[in-house]
Amino acid sequence: MPNVQKVTSAGLIHALRTEARAAPPSGIVEAFHYGHNREGIIPLWVGEGDLPTPNFIHEAATRSFAAGETFYTNQRGLPELREEIAAYLARVYAPQLPVNGLYSPDRFSVTIGGMHALQIALRLVAGAGDEAIVITPAWPNFRGALVVTGSEVVEVPLHFSGAGAGGGWQLELDRVLHAITPRTRAIIINSPSNPTGWTASREELASILEIARRRGLWIIADEIYGRFFYAGERAPSFRDLIDADDRVMFVQTFSKNWAMTGWRLGWLEAPAPLGPIIENLVQYSTSGVPVPLQRAGIAALQHGQDFVASQVARAKDNRDLLAEALAKTRRAHFAIPAGAFYLFCAFDTTLDTRTLAFRLVDEARVGIAPGTAFGTGGERFIRMCFARRREDMTEAARLLSEWLTGDVSAKHDVTNLAPSPAAAPR
Ligand SMILES: Cc1ncc(COP(=O)(O)O)c(C=O)c1O
Repeated sequence: MPNVQKVTSAGLIHALRTEARAAPPSGIVEAFHYGHNREGIIPLWVGEGDLPTPNFIHEAATRSFAAGETFYTNQRGLPELREEIAAYLARVYAPQLPVNGLYSPDRFSVTIGGMHALQIALRLVAGAGDEAIVITPAWPNFRGALVVTGSEVVEVPLHFSGAGAGGGWQLELDRVLHAITPRTRAIIINSPSNPTGWTASREELASILEIARRRGLWIIADEIYGRFFYAGERAPSFRDLIDADDRVMFVQTFSKNWAMTGWRLGWLEAPAPLGPIIENLVQYSTSGVPVPLQRAGIAALQHGQDFVASQVARAKDNRDLLAEALAKTRRAHFAIPAGAFYLFCAFDTTLDTRTLAFRLVDEARVGIAPGTAFGTGGERFIRMCFARRREDMTEAARLLSEWLTGDVSAKHDVTNLAPSPAAAPR
């Protein structure tokens, strides 16, 4: 009987679309499944913090449920939420400027999280036979979502030049230019980056925009960590450079800024003429976002400024704590992340990072994501999320340092990596 079952399952899977079968499993999920049920693990593997959603946000949703807002809703989101998104972005990105076409509500569509925004953006521009450029190491869902559309992922790895002065992760624009072919439709650029924390400068964004304009490419800008930036109020953004009719789309989410990962609420920003087409894609995928969630989103945008500021300050302290502890071991190599809330770090060990992830669960009792999950350039690294309470981060730093300097890890000479400096705020 078990054999019959096996043959039947294989047959069923074989009968699926090639693109669905080709969707890669997420390497982050694999490490998480290995250890998440163990007691006492400090979980730094998943890209979310430990704070629950603030009361003022979920109370807005509760009021909406109680008021009976349980019906179908506008496909692209409540007009009042779309206005609030536009006003929020204008406050953060253009406080001195008169509000212009970039801050018009008809550019925004509410989605089921940032992931759905990305899905729609990709469906708009890339399909079978097309190529899309992804700057790596990168959040694995870019590749996954592209594979499902049938398009090909062309990776352009950042260069890691150690952590000393002038070191860190660097984008080589020539590599982007060389990766463009007649089949290229889009460049996906995530800044600040998950997992490296690399944050494009205004000049780098301007160069990419110039390339995209010249070659007729779309830019899909994932700036969801734009507020988690440690050298200023917010990270440089394509928003500082583009016109309303540029071929640039932004993936955005409530998940990180307002501790709402489980709510699945985000938005896609695109030139206004795309609105009716986006509306159709929403209709044929989710058919809209529950109204109570949207009310929660309005509350977050209106009253969430202090919460965002406190989260960013906490993440910065944790970044410095973790970086300082690991730098002291002299067996960890990383660039201090300018943005996002991850430390992407290579340990001196002969273990591949997938095995390392399992060993750290077993021996250090810390959950990390292996760099193999993040594509070319990430293989030697592990990702640690530092958006957690201070006590956890102190303990994780201690356990990882002990593991690194103790006998349990087989060391080897990583001569091609420069040693890390003592952590210094940037
Ligand atoms: C770079 C990046 N973009 C988009 C998302 C999507 O966020 P969500 O679907 O939770 O809103 C994430 C989540 O981890 C991310 O790291």
